[in-house]
Parts: sequence; structure tokens; C-alpha cells
Amino acid sequence: MAQQVRGVVAPGKGEPVRIETITIPDPGPGEAVVDVQACGVCHTDLHYREGGINDEFPFLLGHEAAGLVESVGEGVTEVAPGDFVVLNWRAVCGQCRACLRGRPWYCFDTHNASQKMTLADGTELTPALGIGAFADKTLVAAGQCTKVDPAAKPEVAGLLGCGVMAGLGAAINTGNVGRGDSVAVIGCGGVGAASVLGARLAGAAKIIAIDLDERKLATATSLGATHTVHAKDADVVESVRELTGGFGADVVIEAVGRPETYEQAFYARDLAGTVVLVGVPTPEMKLELPLLDVFGRGGSLKSSWYGDCLPSRDFPMLIDLYLQGRLDLEAFVTETIGLGDVEAAFDKMHRGDVLRSVVML
Ligand SMILES: NC(=O)c1ccc[n+]([C@@H]2O[C@H](COP(=O)([O-])OP(=O)(O)OC[C@H]3O[C@@H](n4cnc5c(N)ncnc54)[C@H](O)[C@@H]3O)[C@@H](O)[C@H]2O)c1
Ligand SMILES: [Zn+2]
Ligand SMILES: [Zn+2]
Repeated sequence: MAQQVRGVVAPGKGEPVRIETITIPDPGPGEAVVDVQACGVCHTDLHYREGGINDEFPFLLGHEAAGLVESVGEGVTEVAPGDFVVLNWRAVCGQCRACLRGRPWYCFDTHNASQKMTLADGTELTPALGIGAFADKTLVAAGQCTKVDPAAKPEVAGLLGCGVMAGLGAAINTGNVGRGDSVAVIGCGGVGAASVLGARLAGAAKIIAIDLDERKLATATSLGATHTVHAKDADVVESVRELTGGFGADVVIEAVGRPETYEQAFYARDLAGTVVLVGVPTPEMKLELPLLDVFGRGGSLKSSWYGDCLPSRDFPMLIDLYLQGRLDLEAFVTETIGLGDVEAAFDKMHRGDVLRSVVML
């Protein structure tokens, strides 16, 4: 039977979010209902609220979540009631041209639930990134549930569902950072700090953290940065070159999403080095670079969506490393909050006070 639960809804462009009673249908074929235990507050939730993603209001926000599978629909074999899962927004189809070529992390036809969650009056909700987990329960495609070791704390595990995975993956998957590499990370919020951690995990010898905020540089250092550059007081490109024998870093990760920081990343890398853009730009932003430099400096310019992760491959592995004390994912949980505190969490995010606020349910 359909259930009524609480959920955080963005009713219209720029309007504050509010808690509403929402209706969760029973899972249909290929779907699962998940009892959400924790869900992190991400910049993308705020983008949805501001109408920056699309106009399909009302949105059911929240997408960095972990919880227990409550029930599954017909034909679901990959998860079962009681499983502890991290929700993902990359339930791969197995059939598109990327999947068929053995590159499912680029899947062009990822799955979401086909039924709709609704407001009490029947208005259909659009779940953020096809998840919608600032709610006691949510309905997703079964492939959006990735089983991980239940010994992990839900507030930590859920963060792999978006920003932290994006940052870790920008380093270990897209940037392909290797043992002994030099890595620079521009912008050390939740995403960039995770890239620092990913670079350390991959064995980078030198990790240069760059930000405008001292607090972010301090966190980056605690996560493994070997050097820091305060972007307000220093020439970022020169500083990275000085710290790398005059050459630039092997891999530069841009985790801000602005043309000026992208340009810094482009010139702060060594010849034949790699730039990874993981920060998300806005539609009006443009980039201008001498084409001769693009050619002459060689190497590769890459973008990273969701850290090029494959949830079934990456989530259980990263959770195991965390449980072994080899990956400090707990450092990303600045505070745990209630379902009614999402607006306040947006403010703290805006002021740069937190890496992540996590709603506990
Ligand atoms: N590619 C993906 O799949 C993916 C997933 C999640 C988030 N993101 C994006 O990653 C970016 C970062 O997200 P976040 O959660 O870490 O945000 P955040 O606001 O916590 O972090 C941004 C950081 O950049 C710093 N910064 C701003 N301007 C700078 C400058 N000129 N030089 C150096 N540092 C500067 C800020 O001080 C802040 O610490 C956002 O654009 C977000 O949308 C991408
Ligand atoms: Zn596919
Ligand atoms: Zn997110």
C-alpha cells in the first residue's frame, strides 16, 4: 500500500524549502523503496531550488543518501529488504553504446524509478537527480541502490552518493593519478577536499591544495595535502610551478567551475599533463585559450561527471577502505542536522562554514 511520509520539497523558483507530506507508491517492477537513514546537503540541491537545473517544480530534494531497502518490486534480484545501501544517480542500463563498449561509467541511459512520488493532492514530484532522499522513505530504481558493508555509519556512507565520490573519482578515475605524481587541486570544498584524499589514496607524492579560504586549506592539509596555496595572495600558476621544480603538476583538478580557475589549471600543469574539470560551470561562462597552447602543451583536458564512478565497483571498495581506517570519509561530515534544517544548511554552505551538513532521519 502507498505510504505517506515527510519530505523536503522546493515548491518554486527561489522559494524556501518546506516539509510536506508526500506519498510513496509501492515499488513496481525494477523499483525499490528505501528507508532513508542519512542524506547530505549538496550544492546541487540549492541549484534545483533556485531553478538552475530545470523548471520541473516541485522538487523533492536530497540525493547523497544511505539507508535500508524496505521493499522491492517484481523482478528485482540485486537487492533485498534489509540491505544497507548507498543511493546512486548512475544506475547503468547495460545496453547503450557506452555500456556495450565496456565503459558503463559513461552510460547514456541511466535508470530512475518509473512511478512518481506525489504531494498529498496528487501533484507529481521531481526527485533531485532521480533520488529525492530528504524524506523518511524514497522510491528509486533498484539499480540506484548499491549494497555496502552495514558496519559503515549512514551519514558517512551516504556522502559517496554524490560530491565526495565526484572528488575522489576525479583523482582516481578521471585523472588516473598514479604513484609519485604531483597533483594540484583548485578549490577545496567538499569536492576538492575529496580529490585531495583521492590523490593521496592513489599514491601522489606531492599534493598542492589551493583555495581562497584558510579553513579549507587546513582541512585539505589534514586529508593529505603536502602544500597549500592561498589563492588570494599568490599567483596560483607560479606557485604551483615553484612547488614542482618549475614545471607544473602532472594532474590539476579544477573543483570550482569558473573560467579563471580553469585557465589557472590549464597553465599550472606540466607539459603533457592532465586537467580534470569537476567543478560545474553555469551556462553563460566562456573559455578563451590560445589554440597554439592547447596544441603545444599536449596532454589531456578532461571533464569528470560523478568522478567517472561505477557505483557497483567503487562504493563497496571505498567503504571497505574507510572501515579499515585507510580513507577518512568521516572528515566530510561537519554536522548532522534534522529534516527541518535544510534551509539553514544552505546558508552555512554558502558561507563556506561546512564541508557537508547531513540530515539524519
Ligand atoms: N562533476 C560532478 O559530478 C560534480 C558533483 C558534485 C559537485 N560538483 C561541483 O563541484 C564544485 C565544488 O563543489 P563543492 O561542494 O566542493 O562546493 P564548495 O562551495 O564547498 O567548494 C568550492 C570551493 O572553491 C573555493 N573557491 C572559490 N573560488 C575560488 C578561486 N577563485 N580560487 C580557489 N578556490 C576558490 C571556495 O572557497 C570553496 O572552498 C561545484 O561546482 C559543484 O557543483 C560536481
Ligand atoms: Zn548504458
Ligand atoms: Zn550532489
